[in-house]
Amino acid sequence: MKRLMYPGSFDPVTNGHLDVIRRASRIADEVLVAVARNSEKSPLFTTDERIDLIRAVTASIPNVRAVTFTGLLADAVSAFEVSAVIRGLRAVSDFEYEFQMALMNRELNPACETLFMMPSPEYSFLSSRLIREIASCGGSISAFVPPEVVAAIRGKMERTVHD
Ligand code: PNS
Repeated sequence: MKRLMYPGSFDPVTNGHLDVIRRASRIADEVLVAVARNSEKSPLFTTDERIDLIRAVTASIPNVRAVTFTGLLADAVSAFEVSAVIRGLRAVSDFEYEFQMALMNRELNPACETLFMMPSPEYSFLSSRLIREIASCGGSISAFVPPEVVAAIRGKMERTVHD
């Protein structure tokens, strides 16, 4: 059984993430989309909300499961018995950080292999941080994230305005 883990903050999950999840689901028996707890200091969505959104947007992909992990990714790889970690590379600029993280993870756990997948170029400029920023300035994000995320962000923004 080839189980891959796609770790990240997913605050929120974007169309770029979804593209990588779909690609990974075609080459693995199971893909665990793993939300890192406490990876962001002041996240827009709680870990549970991020998990719910990932579940909603991957509902049509049967071999995808959303999980959380606390602490080191290198330890989560053993705990969840995954064959490898998947990370998306949008552009060359992602490479240096990802390369460093992949080698450090393998140093921490020799069983921790990292596979890089390239999302479709139409998503190469997407990031969760930009989505949050555009939404907070009132811009439209519907071309960049699934409809479930648009609705969830709208709900967050409305609550913020009314609080
Ligand atoms: O979506 P992101 O923010 O790029 O994901 C980064 C993430 C969560 C995968 C990374 O920060 C991580 O693995 N955090 C868990 C703690 C850890 O293992 N840190 C050492 C990495 S070498």
